[in-house]
Amino acid sequence: MNLNRRKLLSWFGLGWLASLLPSSLVGCSEAAPPTASAPPSAPESVAAAPSGNFKAIGTVAQLNKDGSLLSSDKKIAVVRDPKDANKLLAVNPTCTHKGCTVKWEQSNKEFVCPCHDAKFAADGAVRQGPADKPLPRYAAKIEKDQVLVST
Ligand code: FES
Repeated sequence: MNLNRRKLLSWFGLGWLASLLPSSLVGCSEAAPPTASAPPSAPESVAAAPSGNFKAIGTVAQLNKDGSLLSSDKKIAVVRDPKDANKLLAVNPTCTHKGCTVKWEQSNKEFVCPCHDAKFAADGAVRQGPADKPLPRYAAKIEKDQVLVST
């Protein structure tokens, strides 16, 4: 009887241990660190991204006909550089005095503010007050007869 009890307890103990083993293995596999074959979460490459976000403002034909281009939202004006007609100059035409939209005058090759007569050079530099800050500049280029500007 004593031997049977001991035998029973030993079998019961082994059975209890054996019943824990599979769940222990599952528990270990869930907590295991990612393997080397898992794809790394590397950041996307930015080297291939374009250097600027250029958008079309108008055509070269329009620019040549009118002498300037104004974006539909009136936040970008483009003219040819008076010193080098092959280069484009793009500015924000919002007057730095009180915010009126300046207009390009082809005859004097300058931007003139209709509100208080401030004048700016083609590159946005102040020529005459009351404005005392230049117009912000943007990068501009021509591609396939389109005038593109990056803001
Ligand atoms: Fe342009 Fe005053 S708003 S000069």
